[in-house]
Amino acid sequence: MGKLDGQWALVTGGGSGLGRAFTLALAAEGARVAVADIDGERAEKVVGEISGRGLALAGDVSDSTTVARWFETLGAASGRRLEILFNNAGYADAPAGLQERSRAIAQEMMSGKGQQTPLDATIALSDADWARMLSVHLSGTFYCTREALRWMTPARYGRIVNLGSIAATTGLAMVPHYCAAKGGILAFTKSVAREVMPFGITVNALAPGFIDTPLLDPFDGLARMAVLASIPMGRFGKPEEVVPSAMLLVDPANGFMTGQVISPNGGQVI
Ligand SMILES: NC(=O)c1ccc[n+]([C@@H]2O[C@H](COP(=O)([O-])OP(=O)(O)OC[C@H]3O[C@@H](n4cnc5c(N)ncnc54)[C@H](O)[C@@H]3O)[C@@H](O)[C@H]2O)c1
Repeated sequence: MGKLDGQWALVTGGGSGLGRAFTLALAAEGARVAVADIDGERAEKVVGEISGRGLALAGDVSDSTTVARWFETLGAASGRRLEILFNNAGYADAPAGLQERSRAIAQEMMSGKGQQTPLDATIALSDADWARMLSVHLSGTFYCTREALRWMTPARYGRIVNLGSIAATTGLAMVPHYCAAKGGILAFTKSVAREVMPFGITVNALAPGFIDTPLLDPFDGLARMAVLASIPMGRFGKPEEVVPSAMLLVDPANGFMTGQVISPNGGQVI
């Protein structure tokens, strides 16, 4: 008997990294999982890994029509029920030319000169890169939450988990758009938590530190070493090390915790 027997979950970005790890853990506790991803093949593959006990949904979370379509498909399979939502889809990319400038800065720092080259992360950010980042992370979280609450509120039960990041709680100089999107997600988490707490629905956030998934691929060479040096445990986390915090937030017994931010981060932020 799993803790989540009979429940349905939706994991956006469930085709890779953290979303895949959440999906496997949810299924191991008995939930059926709708895995939504912009890469439909990845979503299918992960549904295969849970022996087909769920369904794959392809599309872009930043498009509200796509999200409404996902919920139609899910509703037909689940009987218009959803107990668990992970707003997890996302990406991180740096503004143009930033890798080169951060490499130059790292060399300046190592030679003891102090930083001479401006990072220019904000100056280099285009309107399109800013808008896309907010759209995927923040609007995507809003669209899925809006749809999920239409079912969770009348059912008087729900567990919503939003993916923040230490990028939101501490800021990261290299990715101002990512930090802004994640900060918005944490504020949205707290607002919706207050709104729906009388209805058996909890809304919490995870704010992981650096976790070894394809999201970190843009960090290469010196940038990777600089990040590692800033983590007291001296290594990136593994997706499986975020799973216990995630499972706490979806535990049916954990009904008194809402609006909280849990941060598995290897001691980087205390
Ligand atoms: N890896 C980390 O260090 C870290 C740290 C803190 C927070 N996070 C957050 O965790 C979440 C998952 O990241 P991850 O590390 O597992 O990354 P990942 O790249 O391994 O997985 C992200 C998944 O989201 C999907 N995706 C991206 N854009 C999408 C869109 N527009 N619509 C639908 N699906 C989309 C991708 O196809 C991919 O399968 C993200 O929100 C990320 O910001 C990651």
